[in-house]
Amino acid sequence: MTPIVGVTTEVNINQDRLWESLMQLAQIGNYTDERTGLRGVNRLALTDADAAGRALVVKWLREAGLRVRIDEIGNVYGRREGRLTHLPPVLVGSHIDSVTTAGAFDGCLGVLGGLEMVRSMNEAGLVTDHPVEVAFFTEEEGVRFGTDMLGSAVAVGRIGLDDAYARTDINGVTVGSELERHGFRGKAPVRIQAPHAYVECHIEQGPVLSSTGRDLGVVTGIQAISWQELTLLGKAAHAGTTPMELRHDAGLATAMVTTKLHEMARSGGYGDLRVTIGRVDAYPNLINIVPARVICTVDLRNPSEAYMKDAETELRSYLEFVSAQTGVEITAKQTAKTPLVTFDGDVENLIAEKIDAVGLSHSRLLSGAGHDAGEMASICPTAMIFVPGEYDGISHNPREYSTPEACANGVQVLTDVVRTLSTDGKIKQ
Ligand code: HGY
Ligand code: MN
Ligand code: MN
Repeated sequence: MTPIVGVTTEVNINQDRLWESLMQLAQIGNYTDERTGLRGVNRLALTDADAAGRALVVKWLREAGLRVRIDEIGNVYGRREGRLTHLPPVLVGSHIDSVTTAGAFDGCLGVLGGLEMVRSMNEAGLVTDHPVEVAFFTEEEGVRFGTDMLGSAVAVGRIGLDDAYARTDINGVTVGSELERHGFRGKAPVRIQAPHAYVECHIEQGPVLSSTGRDLGVVTGIQAISWQELTLLGKAAHAGTTPMELRHDAGLATAMVTTKLHEMARSGGYGDLRVTIGRVDAYPNLINIVPARVICTVDLRNPSEAYMKDAETELRSYLEFVSAQTGVEITAKQTAKTPLVTFDGDVENLIAEKIDAVGLSHSRLLSGAGHDAGEMASICPTAMIFVPGEYDGISHNPREYSTPEACANGVQVLTDVVRTLSTDGKIKQ
């Protein structure tokens, strides 16, 4: 079917309106970091704050004339009809749930950038061939219910819906009950028709673009991610009366594992391995008692599948060594695991072309962070646009900041890419 070329007109996004929406959404779940005095955002997935953010964005999607549907795992899609309604949509989006110490941009730029794109398309009277959809996915961060990209992973079939519903937070509250409580356990089938293409605009969350002075990034893929939760079971004992040789110290075992992982990362023997022991919960966590139990998390990232496998294997055998040395029983639970993702070259090239067309500079880079695009890439041609951040691109922190111009650059390119994808069918399916 030769698509009828749409009525293509100049579609210029409105930088101030985009910025206004970002700042307004950032007010929801807003808090003051008591150490730095900085204003941060805490919209942990499916909390009241997340629900309030969801309601605001749904309201904006509807006001922009989009037909909104909520699926069974709480993913939200806003649809702008195209001339050829039977064609698969061009999909853009990201997430609006956040870590507990977030800034205003992580995920939100991709969702509100999609909204700004639609608002601008409407103003320009643009008629596309393909429908265009703007989405936000549930629990992308994975920090409340333990596994990242939860909503988009269910949408593409990597995680089952019932498994997702049953996931619990640290207090035993389930995803299913929270979706019910907030009215976001929707009726729309969670498995989506493969989009024509998926494009996500996101802050880089790192130092590469700002250190090289590039205006935008064309993202080539996402590195492999492996999350584990370790439970280290020792024996509580009095800190003063218990001889060192009689102890089963879960704190010592945790320190040994942490040191080993950092030695592995520094050794170069596992490629560009990155390790983070982000959460360490000791019990009873008191100064004069030998830790009886520690629950900690291990976040491994690697651009190489082979090195990731080597690192996981080495960790597994080292846990046995530590257990034998300390008498601490260690169990490891894999809570998230996603492979190295390679994005679609045609979509990448289209992004690069549109960046050139507006006279901006770019470089191509692999994403250090996980994104919903990593899931979408398994069902359709996918790529991402990165926007540089200030302060070495710090993220997952109230200091996260990208300038209004940088955000607008990313969203203008997103708009230009989607115009082409939805009008001249540039990406063959
Ligand atoms: O952890 C990540 O890479 C992402 O921020 N969810
Ligand atoms: Mn994100
Ligand atoms: Mn994030």
